[in-house]
Amino acid sequence: MEPAIAPSVVDLEKQYLLQNYARYPLVLHRGKGCYLYDAAGKRYLDLLAGIGVNALGHAHPRLTRVIREQAGLLLHVSNLYYHEYQGPLAGRIAKASGLARVFFSNSGAESIECAIKMVRSHGRKISPDKHQIVSLEDSFHGRTCGALSVTGQEKYRSDFEPLLTGVHFVPRNDIVALEQVVNDHTAGIVLELVQGEGGIHPLSAGFVRKARELADRHNALLIFDEIQCGVGRPGTYFSYQLLDPQVLPDIMVAAKPIACGIPLGVIAANERAAESIGSGMHGSTFGGGPLACRVALEFFDILDTLLPQITRMGAYFRNGLAELAKRYSFIKEIRGVGLMIGVELDIPGKQIVLDAIEQGLLINCTHETVLRMLPPYIVTEREADRGITILKRVLKKAKAARVDPSAGSQ
Ligand SMILES: Cc1ncc(COP(=O)(O)O)c(C=O)c1O
Repeated sequence: MEPAIAPSVVDLEKQYLLQNYARYPLVLHRGKGCYLYDAAGKRYLDLLAGIGVNALGHAHPRLTRVIREQAGLLLHVSNLYYHEYQGPLAGRIAKASGLARVFFSNSGAESIECAIKMVRSHGRKISPDKHQIVSLEDSFHGRTCGALSVTGQEKYRSDFEPLLTGVHFVPRNDIVALEQVVNDHTAGIVLELVQGEGGIHPLSAGFVRKARELADRHNALLIFDEIQCGVGRPGTYFSYQLLDPQVLPDIMVAAKPIACGIPLGVIAANERAAESIGSGMHGSTFGGGPLACRVALEFFDILDTLLPQITRMGAYFRNGLAELAKRYSFIKEIRGVGLMIGVELDIPGKQIVLDAIEQGLLINCTHETVLRMLPPYIVTEREADRGITILKRVLKKAKAARVDPSAGSQ
């Protein structure tokens, strides 16, 4: 597939950027709603939304208006001073999450870093030996050294070891393994309620309840990483409210969609966990700036009315995909919650993603064989139908290539 772009952009990146990203051959120029347009004007249905960031699609009129207005007023204020939006946004998140206090960062990994510091500080106050953290195999919590330390995937960690010590990984939903590893040395347990990078795997309610019970028994903090699976995507504010509204974390971290593309990370904590961070123990230059906070407040206003639609559209997608599964035996399972959808294949997904791009559809593949969709929350039935029709075409080609391997080559 040839890149639909001015070659100089690619050449400049190849010459001057760290070569850490394997980009798809596409330069995006603008967006409107659920569609993106490349430099040549070709249109793409965006069912990935910046890997779960562009919750209201692209160029949403209400966000565009507040961004324009705020840019003319105040872009940045240091955390030495107050501004009009951080307090109200913290109140909004506290109300939506059921947690008492909030801190703002700039990304998911930074939010996890803050949570790890809270866990370590909480443990130290009790005993110098209480510093262990329990996490899950196949989890993903970000790329900083702290976040990698609790990420249960060797491929992300191995180049940077040794990382933080005292982290134990257990298989998801394995209650016996969890019980064996959590003890009085455990300071925190960190869970993604739906593992995203790990292949869209929801945790069971029983497992999460057991984690809560063990954290209480051993005076450890329970952290839910809602960076990919939260902030409206499940059809509730946070995925723990869908799983079991009675089971609250001590700390919840969120990021991706919360300011719809302006970088913003959030840590919400109950009073017990919040006590672990005192004056001067943590901070951020950019975190919680007026632009990001104002956009996030506007987003929350819109999200309040969108939640039922997210649930409905999630079911609509899954029904459409279930029809495809009847036709293509290499679709093994369809998983997810709300508008977080994984289609597990028993063939590699990479070529399917490339073919979809060529056909004007943006999705991606995680864990080699899981097609992932994180559509904008404003997606309509018409757009879902279009996405599924394109996917059907692409899967038909994959099926033909399976029967006749030369049919799939380009
Ligand atoms: C569950 C989860 N946690 C943490 C992160 C890291 O977030 P960021 O890339 O904003 O640092 C991600 C990113 O994909 C994620 O999916």
